[in-house]
Amino acid sequence: MSMPAYIFTLWRASVFVAALVPLAWWGWQVANNMAGPEPGRYLLLNIGLGALWLLLFTLSLTPLTKLTRWKGFNLIRRQLGLWTLAYAVLHLTCYVLFILGLDWARLGSEIVNRPYIIVGMLALLGLTALGATSNRWAMRKLGKRWKTLHKASYLILALVLLHFLWVVRADMQEWFVYALVGALLMCLRIPPVSRTLPKLRQRLKQSA
Ligand code: HEM
Repeated sequence: MSMPAYIFTLWRASVFVAALVPLAWWGWQVANNMAGPEPGRYLLLNIGLGALWLLLFTLSLTPLTKLTRWKGFNLIRRQLGLWTLAYAVLHLTCYVLFILGLDWARLGSEIVNRPYIIVGMLALLGLTALGATSNRWAMRKLGKRWKTLHKASYLILALVLLHFLWVVRADMQEWFVYALVGALLMCLRIPPVSRTLPKLRQRLKQSA
């Protein structure tokens, strides 16, 4: 069954608003002294976690498309990818402003004391490369290499999970949940597993 075009426009607009709302909420909390004793760190951690959520959402779009054949999931792929990059850049901005205090001379000792920052930087570099090549022009120019390059999103996810693991120290439970979801999404891209998704859709349709 085909859907009217305005449904897809509404869908894309809703996704845009949904990605913007957490940022507005955290900003509002900070402005109203509701973000605890370290508002800068509060923003840094929440936005970092938001970036991870967005990356996981983006990576779930291909399996969801295979499972449902709904083209709406494909339509928001670029938008969600770019939102992931935007959150990651804001996360870095919070780090530079509130942790580093714009004191660039401290960056060297920071990297030595917190090596997970290098891992985060590599992940951000990867996200930037994917964001910069997410347009039609780059798709045409890169041809088959485009798909290979964009499979690096799984490597980026692994880097982000490592960055997060290095940070959590105490509460491993939360990290495990994210790692499990990430591992599941990676498994779903393995060709023999990925091929079972349309079959699963057929089976679900028949049983319904
Ligand atoms: C330039 C790169 C990056 C820098 C400098 C950076 C820095 C940091 C810092 C300082 C922390 C907090 C550590 C603490 O608790 O003391 C952190 C946590 C975190 N970062 Fe990053 N990060 C970077 C890139 C990224 C990227 C690209 C992502 C995700 C796409 C990400 C996701 C996270 C997550 C999920 C946390 C943990 C949040 C929590 O504990 O609730 N970071 N990062």
